[in-house]
Amino acid sequence: MTSGALVDEPLVLGIETSCDETGIGVVRGHTLLADAVASSVEEHARFGGVVPEVASRAHLEAMVPTIERACEESGIKLNDVDAIAVTAGPGLAGALLVGVAAAKALALGLDKPIYGVNHLASHVAVDQLQHGPLPEPCVAMLVSGGHSSLLKVTDITEGVDPMGATIDDAAGEAFDKVARLLGLGFPGGPVIDRTATSGSSIAIDFPRGLTSRRDLERHRFDFSFSGLKTAVARWIEAKERSGEPVPVADVAASFQEAVVDVLVRKALDAASSEGIEDIIIGGGVAANSRLRVLAEERATKLGIRVRVPRPGLCTDNGAMVAALGAEMVARGRTPSALDLPADSSQPITSVLV
Ligand code: KG4
Ligand code: ZN
Repeated sequence: MTSGALVDEPLVLGIETSCDETGIGVVRGHTLLADAVASSVEEHARFGGVVPEVASRAHLEAMVPTIERACEESGIKLNDVDAIAVTAGPGLAGALLVGVAAAKALALGLDKPIYGVNHLASHVAVDQLQHGPLPEPCVAMLVSGGHSSLLKVTDITEGVDPMGATIDDAAGEAFDKVARLLGLGFPGGPVIDRTATSGSSIAIDFPRGLTSRRDLERHRFDFSFSGLKTAVARWIEAKERSGEPVPVADVAASFQEAVVDVLVRKALDAASSEGIEDIIIGGGVAANSRLRVLAEERATKLGIRVRVPRPGLCTDNGAMVAALGAEMVARGRTPSALDLPADSSQPITSVLV
């Protein structure tokens, strides 16, 4: 087995099973060769959120066919790969276990090194597949259904430092909860994004969490979305009590604006405070069309560059894991031990286990 060898353009297969997407990606260096995703999202829709046991079973069923699809798409044979990369955490414990077990079986059977990587760092690394080598240092903002954090990235394979995070709900969670309040279904992000296009973002002045001067003293780079969610719920209740129809598109647009405004403000402040000129936005919420426009608009005024991968690479996928794995190989990092654990609460400071 090779160990920590530097390979120029490593061919890596990545496995992602931290939530409800079984993702298998194949990457050569910074080039995407295959991105096969099987999602169990529809099986969770009637529960209004991801059910861990349902997700684990779906991963088990989808694993082999999705690996086969990725090999077919990329035209590679499993034995061609230089390494296997897998999400070791954070995520749902049972779901992670399926991916980690599959990765170990492949690594052992093929006699290839295995890299157990951090899901959040993978959301950052995936941008290389679209925009080339990561600018380092950079500030990364990760906004998904489970996380909202601001990170300072000096070396994506080992130097990721948290600057701030949500103190309650994640940004994507807020989208999902507000969509439920509006009767728009699950997952909420994409449907609010679409609904908001026909509403007014200034119709309702919803609160911007942790932006008052007092809050900024203690929580300059932290987020809070639970107060916003409650404000939206109260506003809808009041409308319903008065017998008036709820202007769904206006609520969606004004809510979205409140989330996106705070995200962009804090990401830019984080970069400016560190004298950093590059921001990478990743995670499912990075697919939001308003976030992409507002970030670009405000960053340009400050001379800051913003990179956001295309929406398909923002939501969970295997290519992002392969991308980070390929970077590990290229930078000569020592592979994980074959008995690596799946860690549901893996901290972002642990990029490789
Ligand atoms: O990264 P991801 O696929 O899975 C997690 O690791 O959580 O993110 C899923 C989250 C969901 O909460 C979903 O509602 C949100 O990303 N999302 C969006 C959009 N597309 C997905 N939120 C806002 N706007 C979107 N267009
Ligand atoms: Zn994710």
